[in-house]
Amino acid sequence: MKFFVDSADVAAIAELNDLGMVDGVTTNPSIILKSGRDITEVTKEICELVDGPVSAEVVATEADAMIAEGRKLAEIADNITIKLPLTWDGLKACKTLTDEGRMVNVTLCFSANQALLAAKAGATFISPFIGRLDDINLDGMELIEDIRTVYDNYGFETQILAASIRSANHMKEAALIGADVATAPPNVIKAMANHVLTDKGLAAFLSDWEKTGQTIL
Ligand code: G3P
Repeated sequence: MKFFVDSADVAAIAELNDLGMVDGVTTNPSIILKSGRDITEVTKEICELVDGPVSAEVVATEADAMIAEGRKLAEIADNITIKLPLTWDGLKACKTLTDEGRMVNVTLCFSANQALLAAKAGATFISPFIGRLDDINLDGMELIEDIRTVYDNYGFETQILAASIRSANHMKEAALIGADVATAPPNVIKAMANHVLTDKGLAAFLSDWEKTGQTIL
């Protein structure tokens, strides 16, 4: 499973990138707001840092305007992925932009039918939002499973990009189901390293080591 970082925090992305943990980056208007930075400036910086796809989202709601914004965002760098919302206009823009050979990430997906339409429109990535479904007492992971089944049934090449990931457990479940990509905030990716028994075991080893009176260096 590829790891994308769902953030525009350049320092946090760089830290993970140095460890080889970053296969791409996703942003959205809320993430740009949180960064406090200019969209073009911060996205360019991220694109220079990371080799993989960097999603930048349009804010227009009508297809022609989405296409114009998408083309403008794509000028930032070669690894830009244009992020479009899963609306009828978004699907029209997806078809046009992917026909031009551009990468497109169709976002705000909440059903397998929406994912099927995005694949038909040529999407490079589909972003089902797990956490937001869980928030309303639905099962976000069930959606990832359904999309995996539908795409595998027909050999669609659109990559499932599990989004709105809120916990390390979400990462594990997405990997078990076979999501192609999971995008998560840096703290969630780092939390995957945590285990209470690792902490307990390390404390015991260090305590015993101290009793030996030895040093390694
Ligand atoms: O990738 C989409 C993601 O940013 C949404 O996450 O936590 O705002 O639902 P969240």
